[in-house]
Amino acid sequence: MLRLPALRRALSAAAPASALRGKWCRPRPAAGGRWRWEVCGTAVASVRCDCEGRAAGSARSHPAAAEGFATKTFPCLSGRTTATAASNQIEVFVDGQPVLVDPGTTVLQACEKAGIQIPRFCYHDRLSVAGNCRMCLVEIEKAPKPVAACAMPVMKGWNILTNSEKSRKAREGVMEFLLANHPLDCPICDQGGECDLQDQSMMFGSDRSRFREGKRAVEDKNIGPLVKTIMTRCIQCTRCIRFASEVAGVDDLGTTGRGNDMQVGTYVEKMFMSELSGNIIDICPVGALTSKPYAFTARPWETRKVESIDVLDAVGSNIVVSTRTGEVMRILPRLHEDINEEWISDKTRFAYDGLKRQRLTQPMIKNEKGLFVYASWEDVLSRVAGVLKAVQGKDVAAIVGGLVDAEALIALKDLLNRVNCDTLCTEEIFPTIGAGTDLRSNYLLNTKIAGVEEADVLLLVGTNPRFEAPLFNARIRKSWLHNDLHVALVGSAVNLTYTYDHLGESPQILQDIASGKHAFCKVLDQAKKPMVVVGSAALQRNDGAAIHAAVSTIAQNARTKSGVGSDWKVMNILHRVASQVAALDLGFKPGVEAIRKNPPKVLYLLGADSGCITRQDLPKDCFIIYQGHHGDVGAPMADVILPGAAYTEKAATYVNTEGRAQQTRVAVTPPGMAREDWKIIRAISEVADLTLPYENLDEIRKRLEEVSPNLVRYDDVEEANYFKQANELSKLVKQQLLADPLVPPQLTIKDFYMTDSISRASQTMAKCVKAVVEGAHAVEEPASC
Ligand code: SF4
Ligand code: FES
Repeated sequence: MLRLPALRRALSAAAPASALRGKWCRPRPAAGGRWRWEVCGTAVASVRCDCEGRAAGSARSHPAAAEGFATKTFPCLSGRTTATAASNQIEVFVDGQPVLVDPGTTVLQACEKAGIQIPRFCYHDRLSVAGNCRMCLVEIEKAPKPVAACAMPVMKGWNILTNSEKSRKAREGVMEFLLANHPLDCPICDQGGECDLQDQSMMFGSDRSRFREGKRAVEDKNIGPLVKTIMTRCIQCTRCIRFASEVAGVDDLGTTGRGNDMQVGTYVEKMFMSELSGNIIDICPVGALTSKPYAFTARPWETRKVESIDVLDAVGSNIVVSTRTGEVMRILPRLHEDINEEWISDKTRFAYDGLKRQRLTQPMIKNEKGLFVYASWEDVLSRVAGVLKAVQGKDVAAIVGGLVDAEALIALKDLLNRVNCDTLCTEEIFPTIGAGTDLRSNYLLNTKIAGVEEADVLLLVGTNPRFEAPLFNARIRKSWLHNDLHVALVGSAVNLTYTYDHLGESPQILQDIASGKHAFCKVLDQAKKPMVVVGSAALQRNDGAAIHAAVSTIAQNARTKSGVGSDWKVMNILHRVASQVAALDLGFKPGVEAIRKNPPKVLYLLGADSGCITRQDLPKDCFIIYQGHHGDVGAPMADVILPGAAYTEKAATYVNTEGRAQQTRVAVTPPGMAREDWKIIRAISEVADLTLPYENLDEIRKRLEEVSPNLVRYDDVEEANYFKQANELSKLVKQQLLADPLVPPQLTIKDFYMTDSISRASQTMAKCVKAVVEGAHAVEEPASC
């Protein structure tokens, strides 16, 4: 029993009993089987509790309560307090501080909940627990040995001592072992300044080593042009192996040998063939895996970091752009739980060298000999303004590409509307029969990227999400791995990193599923949260409208049969380019069919680089204006070139495939005389006496808000609806499904690397293609340290 008179005396000595009565009186375990008593967090006494949990009944019957102290927590009664029983949580103590945690929580997570960081190397929140580095050893009171905090679930009433002598010694010992074989090459290591081993050895290591033997050395592996390996630095935490097999779904990495001979590698020398391979650089806690293109170029403390978003696919991954002296040095992921978690694709991470090559840095005009000559902004602006004013609106048309921001889109639309032109097209095609693009739900990934984690059945149609949207594919894999997601695919059989039912390649299968004749209908009928995802490429065929209509019927049937609420969306479109959703929101026409039918006299190409229209499709005297940042496919056919800014050089709005508006920020200034796109268009309007009514970013965003308010509600996903109406309108589609198989444009990883003007200009991406085709050895290794 608690020796209450002694306690009362001790408490009274520290504070008057009247001041203590009714206050939050809490015992904290202390050395020697004693308890340190605290009132409102202040230590007041140290007493011995020897009831050893035998105090019967509830906290109220505890003798301490009878003395008038609020017995919110008595260790001898742990688990019996009202709060604990009601919430089914268990109470543990971290350095004497009580925390309520769910059963099954690990010691490390309980400590985190109490605000105490436990050092770790092998543990990672998003990977399975390996428990092999032992850096997280902590003492549990009364336990004979320190335990690995990352792998040990807590037990009721445990007192975890994170800073005891035993814990400190254990960490120091582990650190000594790790450093025994780790080369001390921090001054030339690219991880320097952001290395967990460096930081934790300063924090928890000893100031001397007892190790006198020679260090172990391991040969480096060539795993491709993206990830540089210095395997002597490896501490064998196996994070990279677990990432590869769990998140990326590629079992390329593993260990060979035992004990001192253990090595991490690819078994036989080969490229680490994953579109997410760069993430192993971030999760490697030491400098064993670093970025090859970034090798020896900058130190983290020299760089300026700007939070931005990626635009090289339609996912809108959150990124950090690191710059130094006006140059993008590297791109890293930024946490966004609903989009990319903490990963990014290799194209997002490594294509930044394309931002420095093949740039359009000065305005140009084609001379009589057909050669481009440099010109001043005054010359090109007055030339373009003059041409626009000299023709009728019906003779003008515009095509926008996949990297164009919403500000430039609205400026172009406003300018051309002022010359009575409304042939404003996107390069990407989308069916316009039926509900077309009138209903937003018809062209969005309505379930959202994170929504796939809740789904139980997923039907993919004519898409390869692995290369069209790698982070969305990683979510599908996560759901397949942890939630038993049942995946089926109509289209070419591709390697998606998870197993799926391949229903066939023919679009006719969609008709069979829509009419309930296909065997897969049984699976769909039993689904509780079904999802249907159709790739945007499948809708660009000549039977795109029929495919959309069939998919819409499948989704509507699945919705009805599953009985899900209206908050669960079934129908989804997976886009491939960053500008498409904003362009459709702003009323651009999808596809260039109108231009083909009615060739214009003046064509404005705004970042249009996919080659959807060529000189041969246009009249000989058609005047082409190209505005963009790269001399890619569109620029050579132009008469005038207006150099624009890339996504790292402007504050701009992009809407991802879910319909989520996000913004890029200025990381570096545009090169040479290049300018932000909307400002160029605004300048043309002024020279043409058609001045657009906005002069700064706020004003143009107000205009965006007038047209489509969702475009400026950043990080918000405006719910789209009217699925039933869209499905009814789709029944009016009279198009027939073709017999041609559904083949997504990116079949293998080779097709993934170079898909837009930036990645096509990137040498790193070109090396990746070469390494995929010829093997990692075909790509020259940079000089090693
Ligand atoms: S290479 Fe890095 S991530 Fe992989 S096991 Fe070694 S230390 Fe861990
Ligand atoms: S972090 Fe716990 S054993 Fe490595």
